Amino acid sequence: MSDNQASLTAGGNTIDMPVKSGTIGPDVIDIRKLYGQTGMFTYDPGFTSTASCDSALTYIDGDEGVLLHRGYPIGQLAEHSSFMEVSYLLLNGELPSQKELSDFSRTITRHTMLHEQLATFYRGFRRDAHPMAIMCGVVGALSAFYHDSTDISDPQHRKISSHRLIAKMPTIAAMAYKYSVGQPFVYPDNKLSYTGNFLKMTFGVPAEEYEVVPAVEKAMDRIFTLHADHEQNASTSTVRLAGSSGANPFACIAAGIACLWGPAHGGANEAALNMLKEIGTPDKIQHYIDRAKDKNDPFRLMGFGHRVYKNYDPRATVMQSTVREVFAALNVQDPLFETALRLEEIALSDPYFAEKKLFPNVDFYSGIILSAIGFPTTMFTVLFALARTVGWVAQWNEMISDPGQKIGRPRQLYTGPTARDYVPLSER
Ligand code: CMC
Repeated sequence: MSDNQASLTAGGNTIDMPVKSGTIGPDVIDIRKLYGQTGMFTYDPGFTSTASCDSALTYIDGDEGVLLHRGYPIGQLAEHSSFMEVSYLLLNGELPSQKELSDFSRTITRHTMLHEQLATFYRGFRRDAHPMAIMCGVVGALSAFYHDSTDISDPQHRKISSHRLIAKMPTIAAMAYKYSVGQPFVYPDNKLSYTGNFLKMTFGVPAEEYEVVPAVEKAMDRIFTLHADHEQNASTSTVRLAGSSGANPFACIAAGIACLWGPAHGGANEAALNMLKEIGTPDKIQHYIDRAKDKNDPFRLMGFGHRVYKNYDPRATVMQSTVREVFAALNVQDPLFETALRLEEIALSDPYFAEKKLFPNVDFYSGIILSAIGFPTTMFTVLFALARTVGWVAQWNEMISDPGQKIGRPRQLYTGPTARDYVPLSER
């Protein structure tokens, strides 16, 4: 790391601030002493110019459409690796040896069951509850069941709770689905892979044998890989902020799930497929493009645009080719895929989208695949949460392991009334 200086003149004073360089990516100006030296804060709602932490996990170059996990490009990981291996990589920093991978997979597999009493917890939800509402509640409740791994100052506790979260998330997600369709919960089958087990718990029924379709398992595993981590996005920042106060990891991940749910973030996959269904046929596309461009219409093209990517989201590229693989494996077609391809083509040739650098993001094609596999739209964001859990716990661990870690506490530009005297009720 090389340190340079930046200077700022404010309120008649010129102050020097260190400039820090990472291994790649933009330098950052270290403003931590700014308030002490000038009495001023920086102002950056939405954090468009603010780096909130150091991190060695994930790097994004939004202009070039690059996404690296621990240095490895997402395209290579999606093609050659597996979700378990990428999970190990994110948590430990290096790709595992064969033995390390099988030990890690075995450890995760050993934690797939849920405390039996949690099954009764589900029954408190309405049958029509959105599965993301169930996920927020059940994951938060884990802290009431696994007290033996919530001492965040103990690295062993942190490791066990991280493994528990990664292992139990498919079970929790599948149970949320089963509850919504009124079918019995299916217990984990540890003979299967992480992803095969999830498919069985979701689509299997106790009355019949369930055969995992290898092509679907592979596609699903790749979708998990594509969602594993994504730098300091809204839900990850939420997990870090919640964790900065010393809250237990189960509570922190529940906070991340709540943040992910919104349509501007992980909820966009559900919203994108609903939008494609609403558009229906290619002849209606122009109408929706016009709406997306109209400043007086709140409609946006869901699955389009990104705070960081000002180029094609590299995850969307893999997603698009995975649609074709899944269709071929299941021998299905979905006219919405044609609509999506045409929508992309029309949007990318429109000056509005070109000027604003709006490209398809990871959520644009994922819904089409998930729908072909058999998931209802309400489950889409749940699958995102399942996969992102590894990123959340890896980021949370990185933060807690940092000896300089402080509670996150932004400041504000106050715009309310200045001090005034209380007026008794009888005089108002
Ligand atoms: N359709 C139409 N116009 C758009 C869109 C869109 N999808 N996205 C951004 N714009 C316009 C926006 O109106 C604004 O125009 P102007 O400068 O004239 O005011 C400009 O582009 C910049 O948009 P912004 O909202 O200031 O940008 P942001 O970085 O705050 O928002 C975003 C990023 C992802 C929230 C936004 O692009 C969006 O709402 N996209 C649709 C939702 C979506 O697909 N979200 C998933 C993101 S990827 C997965 C994830 O993060 O979970």
